[in-house]
Amino acid sequence: MRIAFFDTKPYDKPSFEKYGAKHGVTFKFFETKLNEDTVDLVNGFDGVCVFVNDTVNSKVIDSLYEKGVKLVALRCAGFNNVDMNHAFGKVHVLRVPAYSPYAVAEHTMALLLTSVRRIHKAYIRSKDFNFSLSNLTGFDLHGKTVGVIGTGRIGRVFIDICRGFGMKVLAYDKFPVPKLDNGDTIRYVELDELFCNSDIISLHCPLTDETHHIIDEAAIEKCKKGVVLLNTSRGALVDAEALLQGIKSRKVGAACLDVYEEESDLFFEDNSGHIMEDDTLARLITMPNVLVTSHQAFLTEEALENIAQTTVENIIQMASTNQCPNEVCTKNGTPEDCKTGKCF
Ligand code: NAI
Repeated sequence: MRIAFFDTKPYDKPSFEKYGAKHGVTFKFFETKLNEDTVDLVNGFDGVCVFVNDTVNSKVIDSLYEKGVKLVALRCAGFNNVDMNHAFGKVHVLRVPAYSPYAVAEHTMALLLTSVRRIHKAYIRSKDFNFSLSNLTGFDLHGKTVGVIGTGRIGRVFIDICRGFGMKVLAYDKFPVPKLDNGDTIRYVELDELFCNSDIISLHCPLTDETHHIIDEAAIEKCKKGVVLLNTSRGALVDAEALLQGIKSRKVGAACLDVYEEESDLFFEDNSGHIMEDDTLARLITMPNVLVTSHQAFLTEEALENIAQTTVENIIQMASTNQCPNEVCTKNGTPEDCKTGKCF
């Protein structure tokens, strides 16, 4: 099988070449992202392998279909960059539902600790032999309340980590896991209660129409003064302009962002020699209490191995049996994992 691999980064190749060779899948690595302008590159391939910032919209899907390419293998969990309703009946969309929830949850805690203990400032100071402690006062996480929105794989690992720090958890999920709620240190609550009573809020839900800008001006208004916002999920969960205003007004005490609404043309690339066109991101980055990493939370050796292995297995399974448990399927407008392979 020949697969066109888009948005290739050097760290992608070793694991995909290893598992591809093992299972007879050949990858052609393109540095460019998949979009309407680059879709012609797929001529002669059996499928495409894409990541979070490739564009799989209706036009791209129609082009793939016309060229006989019926397999879109996402090497990530989220599929908000795929027009799922349009994909139904035209291309099979496969994903990697879980590769290392620990990678993302641990990165979230790394950002939180860096922020509240001012490690980013201390690191730069000590490089310059400045050993002053002025303005480095942090706060204990022990005893604080963390609001966790989305209690799936990553959210639950993050809750475990927070509990290890002695934090109390207020959880919100559209589909709660009742056994998680112990009525004491971990409680499911409505969103408003979570906003009002959390010292720290962390987002671990997918980006959907419902969750788009779940953190907006109104939500920030309800939060405690000094709230710390963590987003390692998807950029558009947060209205970045509202966040900036929240930071400027001192309502938001700190923000740690591994994702950003308009990240697709910026993140994963070296933009250090360019003028930053995005004024909101530029202003956020200048803030002493905002930490930005560029969609890095997944990036561990373990996660890269798991991503490559599952993606290759998905491709092989779909090619040989026309079904795959990791297919994302849209039935009645609701994306769900397809277990039947009888969709079209
Ligand atoms: P998951 O599917 O295991 O959990 C998502 C949870 O969100 C589920 O419990 C679901 O019920 C809940 N949810 C769905 N709609 C909701 C709504 N309207 N309001 C509240 N909760 C809702 O997914 P997982 O593996 O925990 O990943 C979570 C997110 O993390 C992914 O959607 C992805 O966007 C992001 N992610 C980020 C990475 C990074 O490198 N920064 C890497 C991997 C995932």
